[in-house]
Amino acid sequence: MGRRPDQERIDSLTKARTQLVHERTPKSREWRERSLASLPLGVASSFQDAPPYPIFFERAKGSRVWDVDGNEYADYHNGFGVMAVGHAHPKIVEALSERAAIGTHFAQPVAETTLLAEELCRRFRIDQMRFTNSGTEATMDAIRLARGVTGRDKIVKIEGSYHGHHESVLVSIRPSRDKMGPRETPASVEFGSGTPKAVTELTLIVPYNDAEALDRLLAANAGEVAGMIMEPVMMNVGIIDPEPGYLEAVREICSRHGVILIFDEVKTGATIAYGGAEEVYGVAPDLKCFAKAVGGGTPLGGFGGRGELMAEIAKDGVPQLGTFNGNPLCARAGLVALTEVLTEGAYKELNRLNDAQLAGCQRVIDTYDLPCYTTGVGGKGAVMYAPERLRDYRAYAGFDGDGVDEHLSYLSWLYEMTEGVFMTPGIDEQWTLSVQHTDEDVARYVNAFETFAKEVTGS
Ligand SMILES: Cc1ncc(COP(=O)(O)O)c(C=O)c1O
Repeated sequence: MGRRPDQERIDSLTKARTQLVHERTPKSREWRERSLASLPLGVASSFQDAPPYPIFFERAKGSRVWDVDGNEYADYHNGFGVMAVGHAHPKIVEALSERAAIGTHFAQPVAETTLLAEELCRRFRIDQMRFTNSGTEATMDAIRLARGVTGRDKIVKIEGSYHGHHESVLVSIRPSRDKMGPRETPASVEFGSGTPKAVTELTLIVPYNDAEALDRLLAANAGEVAGMIMEPVMMNVGIIDPEPGYLEAVREICSRHGVILIFDEVKTGATIAYGGAEEVYGVAPDLKCFAKAVGGGTPLGGFGGRGELMAEIAKDGVPQLGTFNGNPLCARAGLVALTEVLTEGAYKELNRLNDAQLAGCQRVIDTYDLPCYTTGVGGKGAVMYAPERLRDYRAYAGFDGDGVDEHLSYLSWLYEMTEGVFMTPGIDEQWTLSVQHTDEDVARYVNAFETFAKEVTGS
């Protein structure tokens, strides 16, 4: 279980470490002030705004990044899990330079787009695929395809999961206790404003790790649900693992109700295993969505699956469009990333390092009796700041027990940050290792975590 450290101590350490961030990052603060005039919140995407203020980066190499004040960090954020190849990997730099020298965009087919499609189909066991420019577009197009194929309007989504910023999935991402409704019949809660109510209501909500709830929901909406979109392992609430048998049950239930099962592998795709979630969990959905790491650091996404579904993408069928789709620069980077950098052997090393990192953090948790646990898969991992293993969003948010301790989580981020490790800001994320991370990076992370543990427990 672990013991929760004293709140007064947490508060005073948070104050001291925040002060240290201020002292170390004055230029980030200046850039932040300046950016507020031209960009809402001073950032390009609202997710980049995090306390105490966004840190502006300048450059990176390998596993390390440097901010505009010249501070160097071991990068565990890795661009929200994109940089599994590590920064400025020589093979990616070469591929991009070569491509840039002979033309970066045509909106006409190029060989590398086909080669990358072939590689993705082979590696992720899908028949056909199409490209997009982001994870959002990948899930948006996969959902449209499911609706087009079935002629049904409703979709199902897991409570607390994130699948990008299009209307159909901006639903029940962080629903508050007063709006979320009972566990048996969760409400469809809009995320912020700007989404028509009618669209929000087409997205039905189920808790993760509860196959019976899904079965009940699909029975109650028989013949009306086009698809179910889910992350096979929840990755926008730290990490919440599927319980044994859950994914198999979801597969069977969707098939029985004629509902297209879509795995959102935007985060898991090229990070948790060579063949993604299907390799780890042995369950095959009908469609898979990709982005982030498959582009080798460029804005590339895509989705694909069974041939007879993908065949509906046709001029008079389901539209799938985009000026930049299959862009040569991104396709070249993705191709080299998948075939030359994120090779089968690379995952052995990612697993080894991740195991070492998880074991190091768990040792600290046990030694200092912290109310936390570790979990991870492939190159992804997290310290979960909760005393008991979490199984869904309600548990994570503390609506069913203790949930994640935001104060502890934020304080540990401040410690990592001020001890030379850049973890994703905010409490929702997990770390992503790259093929350029080393034991030295792991040691730096674990040492910073131990400093945090020692000071917060007063040991
Ligand atoms: C699981 C998942 N799906 C989709 C998306 C959206 O991807 P993008 O930000 O590239 O639009 C994200 C982004 O974090 C994600 O984590």
